[in-house]
Amino acid sequence: MNVTDDPGQRVLAYHEHSKHRPDRYAPGPGHLDWANQPEPFRTYVGAKCLSLPLQAERLEVLFAELYRPLGTIPAAEVNLASLGVLLELSLGLSAWKVYGESRWALRCNPSSGNLHPTEGYVVVPTLPASGRDGGVEAGVYHYVSRDHRLEQRRVMPGGEAEAWDRLFPPGQFLFGLTSIHWRESWKYGDRAFRYCQLDVGHALSAIRHAAAGLGWQVRLLTAPATRDVVRLLGLATGGVRFGGGDGEPEHGELLLQVGRAESGGVSMSPRVAGLAEMAGQGPWMGQANRLSRRHGMEWPLVEEMAELTRQPWQAEMAVSASPPLPPMLVGESGDVRAATLIRQRRSGQAFDARAWLESRELWRILDATLPRSGCAPWDLLPWRPRVMPVVMIHRVRGVESGLYLLLRDPERLEGLWGALDGNFLWSRVSDCPEHLPFYLLRPGNCQESAYWISCQQEIASDGVLSLGMLTAFPAEFPAWPWIYRQLYWEAGMVGHTLYLEAERAGMRGTGIGCFLDDMFYHLLGLRSERFQTLYHFTLGSPLADTRLTTEPPYSSSAAP
Ligand SMILES: Cc1cc2nc3c(=O)[nH]c(=O)nc-3n(C[C@H](O)[C@H](O)[C@H](O)COP(=O)(O)O)c2cc1C
Repeated sequence: MNVTDDPGQRVLAYHEHSKHRPDRYAPGPGHLDWANQPEPFRTYVGAKCLSLPLQAERLEVLFAELYRPLGTIPAAEVNLASLGVLLELSLGLSAWKVYGESRWALRCNPSSGNLHPTEGYVVVPTLPASGRDGGVEAGVYHYVSRDHRLEQRRVMPGGEAEAWDRLFPPGQFLFGLTSIHWRESWKYGDRAFRYCQLDVGHALSAIRHAAAGLGWQVRLLTAPATRDVVRLLGLATGGVRFGGGDGEPEHGELLLQVGRAESGGVSMSPRVAGLAEMAGQGPWMGQANRLSRRHGMEWPLVEEMAELTRQPWQAEMAVSASPPLPPMLVGESGDVRAATLIRQRRSGQAFDARAWLESRELWRILDATLPRSGCAPWDLLPWRPRVMPVVMIHRVRGVESGLYLLLRDPERLEGLWGALDGNFLWSRVSDCPEHLPFYLLRPGNCQESAYWISCQQEIASDGVLSLGMLTAFPAEFPAWPWIYRQLYWEAGMVGHTLYLEAERAGMRGTGIGCFLDDMFYHLLGLRSERFQTLYHFTLGSPLADTRLTTEPPYSSSAAP
């Protein structure tokens, strides 16, 4: 990497440095140190635990209903049971897979290499007991997906709990996300920072979908400083080693304000510093577990990226509404239950190269990535879409194979037009619903390109389509390098929506983090470095791997 002091330039240099190229992949460990594979579950040893009920099965809501405007699904009370449903259907386990001696967990949120760098925390006011479930004391809790339990990191003592509770609008709480970079850099080296951010994006969308099932609103707090996120979640306390133990560092990413919407638009952002101050006075309970006995190789660039993209306190970003759209397209399988679909989501490992997708399913899948005001999942982000899928259509009935672009924000047309190959057709696809801004750029078979661009992964050419997510770094980027994380979060959210919609179409998706950035730009005839691709994806008809057996996610639940 070229050395410069400017944080924005350093982030751009990282992006360049972490590209995979045909003759050289981004610097990584070269081999996998299996003996020191990071433990996939963080726990705080010694912290008091709170078992969460397993009740997602009881959620009657249909998947299609998640996309209805806020208020359509009656909002659940915030209590232990509803917190349990939210966590079970977002960061919870969806199954265990067994092959020979190996057994590994899958979760509702996917993760590059199934390494799961994202950790979840809830910051709650005092929650009353309800039915057979006890109440929850005011404080900060870490979620352990393996056991579906909360670990009590910080409890506000009697006198302070009242002041703490007053900082929460009625029926609302905070959900914090963090990343343990080591989990990803153990396998992916310098490229790990990208993957951690994409995984955060997947978690965001998973949380938004699950919260919609409870009739809750979720908003990303864009104002709080990363420093306060770290303090509030107890990730580092006054120079003491992380969590008081020798666990690998965990980086603060973001806070979400979650819950019933009746309290109007009161943002908790201005209260975060106060909450962090109160929480920071400790004591914190439990010590973060060590994930790998030994770290053979260190990846300082990934840690440096975390520093460079830390956000200072910012004015809250105003919600920037997108142009109004007609109601979402309805699919064939409109009656599948949300909990069933969310838990059946998997990554396709191999696709049937002869399968076709029906065009009406393609329109529905693309439609789900367009933001509708007041509707999940896109109401979580205040900004207008910055990520545009460039789609290589291989086999969709009635749609010519070729290279297409979905303009998720019509205002981006001119910029893209000027940046991509001057010979592209930009012809609006006439057979698709009028409101879908889907453009044919160039007809022709793209399977071979998809294969090579995706690090020679056959899923990209055997799928019915494959796509790359193009973004323009916004003008304010060099001065505000934390936007780098936000771009990845949005790309991860697009990926997550595609995963769920693929399942709804009777197909399967797979996120593709391994791609050759510049080869994709070559295909697009890209003429500007402002545009970069952040994430790739493929979708197809899955071929089952009969060698694996599936076990239920939790001992008291049935395998989905
Ligand atoms: C950001 C990201 C990048 C990924 N990249 C690839 C990839 O390049 N190739 C692949 O086969 N799977 C890829 N996957 C899929 C993961 O391997 C998969 O999510 C993980 O093994 C967990 O399995 P599940 O999605 O079935 O829960 C990726 C997933 C994510 C979230």
